[in-house]
Amino acid sequence: MTDIHIALLGFGTVGKGVYETIQTHQTRLKAILGKNVKVAGVLVTDVEKHQLQDDGVLLTSNFEDILNLPKLDIVIEAIIGKEPGFSYLKKSIERGCHIITANKEMFAYHGNELLEYASRFNVACGFEATVAGGIPAIQTIRTLLNVNKIERIEGIVNGTSNYILSKMRDEEVAFQTALQAAQELGYAEADPTNDIEGYDAFYKAMVLSQIAFGEQPEWQRVTRKGISAISHSHIQLFSEWGLRVKHVISLEKGPRGIRCSVKPVLVGPSHPLYSVDGVQNAISIDADIVGNITLQGPGAGKFPTASAIVEDLIQLNASQGSYFKQEENVRFKKDPQVQWVILTKQTNQFLPESLEVISRVPEKAIFVKAKEKDINRLLEGNAELKAYQAYGQLNHELLENLQLNDIRLTRKVAVPKGI
Ligand SMILES: NC(=O)c1ccc[n+]([C@@H]2O[C@H](COP(=O)([O-])OP(=O)(O)OC[C@H]3O[C@@H](n4cnc5c(N)ncnc54)[C@H](OP(=O)(O)O)[C@@H]3O)[C@@H](O)[C@H]2O)c1
Repeated sequence: MTDIHIALLGFGTVGKGVYETIQTHQTRLKAILGKNVKVAGVLVTDVEKHQLQDDGVLLTSNFEDILNLPKLDIVIEAIIGKEPGFSYLKKSIERGCHIITANKEMFAYHGNELLEYASRFNVACGFEATVAGGIPAIQTIRTLLNVNKIERIEGIVNGTSNYILSKMRDEEVAFQTALQAAQELGYAEADPTNDIEGYDAFYKAMVLSQIAFGEQPEWQRVTRKGISAISHSHIQLFSEWGLRVKHVISLEKGPRGIRCSVKPVLVGPSHPLYSVDGVQNAISIDADIVGNITLQGPGAGKFPTASAIVEDLIQLNASQGSYFKQEENVRFKKDPQVQWVILTKQTNQFLPESLEVISRVPEKAIFVKAKEKDINRLLEGNAELKAYQAYGQLNHELLENLQLNDIRLTRKVAVPKGI
């Protein structure tokens, strides 16, 4: 084989980025791969909308035309939704093609099946672009797994939500104003539900779980919350206290299972995600030998995503078959006690015994340690209460600066690390 023949399924932001990167990096790709990389075909829904500079590239809206290309080595999928991407990739595998996808929703649902299928047909499957765009998160985790055990992953993986929260804090604007600005800048879709309600981040969390822990948690047991209900007055209040609201995916594997949540949380200045602002993404990985690694960078966009896909293309040569390390089935860990900040004016109110009060900020908030189920029970009966989980250490200096009138947290009582 002297050339590598590629088909692009989808020619939107991502597909065009890959196409242009391949054109502009021919010499470099040839030096690395020892072969020319040629785009042989492009699949879209509406051929009239598109024009390709190269007449030798087939532009079609019929997937069978792609499958029937005389030479085809790699199929790159960058279309939207579970289908038809999944079916197209299975057919590509059956034809003997390696596959690469950027489609996190499809991959969260069908990733394992696709990987097994690819392995059965002795082809490779790349999916770096499904999580955090240009950040090499998957590759880093795979490398770490050679000798490390991944213990915990926290990440900001949705640039739209992160941009909105940063703008609400920096410019003291309401959610709707920040969302509108994100839409005007092209960071948010006309229908932003996937981003602002946490679905996009949820899919990415499932892909990360699969690669890091060899399995996904049961979806219905994962807390998924978005950012649309966050008020900018809360954000300002937390800012005064030195805390920031971040939309964070969190994955942890203990001896008895995977704990996963996708939700807005509070982070303090010592937390690795504290200063990740705007459309930036970051993935913070705790592993048993190396300790903490935090990767930060552009989580989406034409060229950052193309970079991840072209990196996959190069890696495919080296590693074929399943990327996933399978582990034995494990049971879920119990709902652990973690830190929460309950916002309420009635700060001297009686709380159920299941909530351990750490401190009270008069007429503003009560800091507690509690299980999520007990917090949810409390919120169900009190519509005026709001609760945010706090990550990292709520340090003593911070609590003392708040001039709390009921500090029960003494220096002898350690706040559990990393909750
Ligand atoms: N945008 C990013 O920064 C980014 C980053 C990481 C991952 N992703 C993922 O990459 C995928 C593509 O995103 P995008 O932003 O490039 O989307 P996009 O700009 O909307 O482009 C989607 C492309 O897919 C084509 N398409 C849609 N449905 C199709 C179908 N049934 N058959 C054939 N072609 C179809 C469209 O054809 P027409 O042009 O004819 O409409 C269009 O060319 C998504 O799964 C997304 O989650 C995106």
